[in-house]
Amino acid sequence: MITFAGVRFSYGERQVLRGVSFTIGAGEKVAMLGGSGEGKTTILRLILGLLKPDSGKVLIGGKDITDKTEEQLREVRMKFSIVFQEGALFDSLNVKENVVFCLREYTKMSEEEIDRKARELLRTVGVEQALNLMPDELSGGMHRRVAIARSLAACDPVMFLYDEPTSGLDPLSADNICRLINELSQGGKGLIIVTHKIYDAMRVAERFMFLKEGRLIFDGDRESLMRSDIPEIQGFLSELTIRP
Ligand SMILES: Nc1ncnc2c1ncn2[C@@H]1O[C@H](COP(=O)(O)OP(=O)(O)OP(=O)(O)O)[C@@H](O)[C@H]1O
Ligand SMILES: [Mg+2]
Repeated sequence: MITFAGVRFSYGERQVLRGVSFTIGAGEKVAMLGGSGEGKTTILRLILGLLKPDSGKVLIGGKDITDKTEEQLREVRMKFSIVFQEGALFDSLNVKENVVFCLREYTKMSEEEIDRKARELLRTVGVEQALNLMPDELSGGMHRRVAIARSLAACDPVMFLYDEPTSGLDPLSADNICRLINELSQGGKGLIIVTHKIYDAMRVAERFMFLKEGRLIFDGDRESLMRSDIPEIQGFLSELTIRP
């Protein structure tokens, strides 16, 4: 479903990706790991065609998206449900309006249908009671849930992209978000989760990639991750040993 072939990418002088190649099937559950600033969010932006590689190719569903028009890219983006790192909600809109924002923009649903859809999506993520609250009245965990509900509103995704969905949350809320992520992927929908938290990655992913200095230094399953003797990976794994 997603193929990167020798992708290089720079922001101006700052070279971020120095030849990244992988293929991720539609139903795969992948964790993208790596230190801060290594280019994880950049990879998600490239998948969505929000950025274009300097060289190399990005293929979605077998088709090169590097030379598509905005209109064609919109179709590509419809395949994905994305929760951005900031998870930002619009401060001036209540939860319902945040969730239905895309529906109002891109569909011709009636007010009644929009209301029903908003309630259904919020129920899916377990915060139906927050319908009329403002973002600053939500806890961190609820905020994240609403952001996920909003990401589900626009489309019926074939794959989920999550950028640090549990950062800044207490362990219990993080655990709930991981459970939600797993529930949403039931029935074989794939996901890519970008995270610093190896524990959360272990909960939702089956395949692990590790990005360092612009390259993938690891791509493998749980067992080989646990056995890896790469120092950076061992650093991440050490987080597990302090958990019960
Ligand atoms: N719009 C931009 N303009 C210039 N440099 C950028 C831009 N966005 C990101 N960068 C730089 O590119 C590098 C990779 O950024 P990216 O956001 O992909 O990292 P990341 O792995 O997601 O980091 P984090 O874990 O902190 O979210 C960083 O050094 C960052 O400072
Ligand atoms: Mg990031």
